[in-house]
Amino acid sequence: MNGSATASNTWQTLAAHAEGMRGAHLRELFAADPQRFARFSVEQCGMLLDFSKQRLTAAALHSLHGLWWAADLPGWIGRMRAGEAINHTEGRAVLHHALRHQGTRPILHNGLDVMPDVRAVLEQMRRFCHDIHGGDWRGATGEQILDIVNIGIGGSDLGPKMATQALAAHRQPRVNLHYVSNLDGAHLATTLAKVSPRTTLFVIASKTFTTQETMQNAVSARRWLVEALGEPAVRRHFVAVSTNLGEVTRFGIDPDNAFAFWDWVGGRFSVWSAIGLPLALAIGFDNFQRFLAGAAAMDAHFFDAPAEQNLPFLLAALDVWNVDFLGAETRACLPYSQSLELLPRYLQQLEMESNGKRTGRDGQDAGCATAPVLWGEPGTNGQHAFYQLIHQGGRLIPCDFIACREADFPLPGHHDKLLANCFAQAEALMRGKTADEARAEMAAAHVPEAVIGRLLPYKVFPGNQPSTTLLLPRLDPHGLGQLIALYEHKTFALGAIWNLNAYDQWGVEYGKQLANRLLPIIEGRAKPDGLDSSTAGLIAYCRRS
Ligand code: F6P
Repeated sequence: MNGSATASNTWQTLAAHAEGMRGAHLRELFAADPQRFARFSVEQCGMLLDFSKQRLTAAALHSLHGLWWAADLPGWIGRMRAGEAINHTEGRAVLHHALRHQGTRPILHNGLDVMPDVRAVLEQMRRFCHDIHGGDWRGATGEQILDIVNIGIGGSDLGPKMATQALAAHRQPRVNLHYVSNLDGAHLATTLAKVSPRTTLFVIASKTFTTQETMQNAVSARRWLVEALGEPAVRRHFVAVSTNLGEVTRFGIDPDNAFAFWDWVGGRFSVWSAIGLPLALAIGFDNFQRFLAGAAAMDAHFFDAPAEQNLPFLLAALDVWNVDFLGAETRACLPYSQSLELLPRYLQQLEMESNGKRTGRDGQDAGCATAPVLWGEPGTNGQHAFYQLIHQGGRLIPCDFIACREADFPLPGHHDKLLANCFAQAEALMRGKTADEARAEMAAAHVPEAVIGRLLPYKVFPGNQPSTTLLLPRLDPHGLGQLIALYEHKTFALGAIWNLNAYDQWGVEYGKQLANRLLPIIEGRAKPDGLDSSTAGLIAYCRRS
């Protein structure tokens, strides 16, 4: 059962806590409790989650813990692990955790253990990485492969691309990785300009193998290769990753060069499958295994830890608190790590495509606010761009700071400054600066009284901006696996609390459907009948000679 958390007593109690906290300031909460950090932080899986800068009292936190039961998280976890079709609108199980499963226990789907197939594809990936890195896989001219171009989009791009960048310090040097996703020909053309057909291998990554962007880019890449090396070269320069091996063969890719995965792997949860092949090529297969093991460690934590210590659940509960009870419409993801530059973009798909929905599992309106708008950039870059608005723009913007205790590129003098900036921003957002403090600062700097009076309103910071800081030991394959799985399970927990199916994406399908209807009109093969005047006007303007 899902006793819809929003209809529970816990939900009502949380609303009362939020009401009772109106007007409270984080600065006062810290002043009133010297133990606040200890009380509102959790260390698990080698990570520290500090949520003491959230606008929470101990009583409110206690009630948030109650969401674990109110949303029947244990029941949902059990159904997911049992291979039930919890993606009910598509009739699919959600078993991506099987892809990183480390033990010998079978994982069942329709009564069959999926693990032998999972291990067979992993073995195929291992051999392929070995052949590419060892120079045994040769292109059509007999030359070694030096560049890998992954063509895919959404989950077939963002995960491996983000992780490839995140693990730059763990790269093996034999091949360069490139990622092409956008339908805009500029993406493919500028990538092809950097590589040679003789030494390039394309990975066509698409769960469905029908996605317009990926198929168009694949066709163009194929044409580029065939023009240079002829048709027979395709089998040495193209491999595919897909659940749709029929379409792979129809495209002309040798079935021996196809890496399978399964419909119980959602696109945005697929980096652990053969969709991770370019990542494995970038960091080496042993590191890819460490990445899987890190995610498996987070699975074990999520499945077994109590609500009070459960990192993914706590992150989910904090989102619920900020969104549903304090009224936040947005959340900033601020990794203080250049290597995690693409993490906000990756999490946008993970969280917003999963829970950016209004219709509950019962077909009714969810009845509460759901996924916030997620955005962000790495610090310190963002500090010189949009942080001004977070500090003084007057909006409630909960922030997730993410940092590593150790640098992945330890240049002298950098990392301590990076951490100082990260913690300082969180502190400033929490404390703010009062008029008295601003006045005293200016007076100490001998600013004339008249100038102080004029500048004072601009120098005041309201503070009370909530944030969470997640500290990882370091950014390595194991740690990154843990981090991504942490957010995956958080997304799952939010779906359960909001009573959403986090695994479909009908909104995206609608856009694809309309684009297919407009294409023949833009190409001049169909009349613009039945279009609104704006769409018709835009098309007419583009077609005007
Ligand atoms: O954006 C919609 C979506 O279906 C994603 O969920 C998926 O990751 C992406 O398109 C790409 O799909 P495919 O891997 O089938 O090409």
